[in-house]
Amino acid sequence: MNRNVIWGLIGGATAIVAGAAALAAPPPGNAVKGKAVFARCAVCHRIDPVVAGGIGPNLAGVYGRPAGQRAGYAYSPAMRAAHIKWDEATLSRFLAGPGKMVPGTKMMATPVTDAQDRADVIAFLKTVGGGAK
Ligand code: HEC
Repeated sequence: MNRNVIWGLIGGATAIVAGAAALAAPPPGNAVKGKAVFARCAVCHRIDPVVAGGIGPNLAGVYGRPAGQRAGYAYSPAMRAAHIKWDEATLSRFLAGPGKMVPGTKMMATPVTDAQDRADVIAFLKTVGGGAK
């Protein structure tokens, strides 16, 4: 094996280790960028606590709340029975595949495949408190 091959192997192994670390720890979110990502959600979700309407529930104050609890919104039976508390980990899993995490959910949204986009939009959701419990 010549030196270049050896360095190539070391470089590849380092990349694999870095990739594993990225999987284990979600990237920190940026709320400003997350507001832009939220444009994808705003088709269906209101975020201002006093603005009614939307195909989906108003998401003001959703961070830290149990799933399916916004007063006045007709959730699917699946979401009402999900027993999830919305935090970084659960929101990230849900946004990556709504129907995979909550089979039978009526959230028919395109999954947010990019982990950084998910972290950013979650950081944005955290900044928007208020709304009904
Ligand atoms: C096509 C419409 C649509 C889009 C786009 C959409 N959602 Fe939803 N979302 C829904 C519906 C409908 C529900 C209610 C699901 C149920 O009851 O099963 C929901 C539920 C949720 C919930 C659970 C709320 C609760 O009170 O438990 C969260 C969190 C959520 N959506 C976040 C998002 C985020 C963040 C985005 C953007 C990345 C997004 N959604 C995009 C329609 C949508």
